[in-house]
Amino acid sequence: MKRMLNVAMMFLLAMSVVYSFAGTPKYKYVGVAKCKTCHNMKKIGKQYTIWKNGPHAKAMESLKSKKSLDYAKAHGIKDPSTDPKCTKCHATMASVKKEEIDPKGKLTMKEGVECESCHGPGSVYRKRSIMINHKKALASGLILPTKEVCVRCHNKENPFYKPFDFKTYAAKIAHPIPKKK
Ligand code: HEC
Ligand code: HEC
Ligand code: HEC
Ligand code: HEC
Repeated sequence: MKRMLNVAMMFLLAMSVVYSFAGTPKYKYVGVAKCKTCHNMKKIGKQYTIWKNGPHAKAMESLKSKKSLDYAKAHGIKDPSTDPKCTKCHATMASVKKEEIDPKGKLTMKEGVECESCHGPGSVYRKRSIMINHKKALASGLILPTKEVCVRCHNKENPFYKPFDFKTYAAKIAHPIPKKK
């Protein structure tokens, strides 16, 4: 009995880290536009432009390709761009709960898989005073993603799955902060 109580306590504790007691998430998704304001500056490394030219920003476009539409037709999916069976991995917005979306943010379906799918919901850490402090940022919801983050989507549930290797895949989308001289 005592052990079960302990397990229950641990669970509640874990939940309270993610959700405030009001039941609303502590950190919310704000959308790529909110990151762009700073992360398109040359001295920080133009992460926005790199992302925009990369695969994740085009993930919703791909759902309109012939390959996608052919697959959908053969599997009784009316429209892959709106069916959660497809969008849950092709758009950050479709992959999170409604209450996790910041009403003051700018998250859209069109932007596809944006920063926060890998770096965590940014409503709190995006503030400049927090961003420039590595420890504070990590304590405010920022994630520096490892393989586990990627394989939430890069797995065999995807009809066009290709074997995923973290090192090569991370190198393909690299967007580092330039080293200070
Ligand atoms: C107000 C400006 C600003 C906004 C808005 C902003 N950032 Fe940052 N971010 C920075 C600065 C400045 C740094 C630190 C750069 C450095 O270390 O030279 C940084 C660092 C980071 C880092 C590396 C942090 C570390 O400690 O290793 C990540 C990841 C990041 N930002 C992601 C994001 C994401 C995702 C968003 C949108 C949700 C965002 N940022 C919004 C200014 C901003
Ligand atoms: C929310 C889901 C999601 C997450 C999380 C995710 N990806 Fe992706 N990724 C996709 C989708 C969807 C595509 C396909 C985009 C397209 O072409 O339409 C993709 C494509 C890619 C590609 C291009 C592959 C190719 O064949 O050219 C690379 C590289 C990649 N992802 C790396 C990563 C890495 C590294 C991580 C983790 C740090 C990651 N992804 C996390 C959904 C995700
Ligand atoms: C589990 C997450 C997940 C689901 C569910 C998912 N996808 Fe994907 N999709 C991905 C990832 C990740 C990639 C990139 C794979 C790679 O290149 O390594 C991708 C790539 C694609 C591509 C580009 C393939 C290519 O080779 O050009 C198309 C088209 C696509 N998906 C369509 C769909 C359709 C249609 C559905 C719904 C029936 C769907 N996806 C469901 C994660 C997913
Ligand atoms: C598909 C996953 C993915 C997406 C989307 C993504 N990132 Fe990253 N990001 C990573 C990975 C992986 C790293 C490397 C983490 C590490 O070095 O530990 C990284 C590192 C960073 C860094 C730190 C670089 C450094 O040199 O320390 C910044 C800043 C950053 N990302 C900002 C962004 C911003 C802004 C966006 C959106 C415009 C974005 N990222 C989109 C996966 C992603």
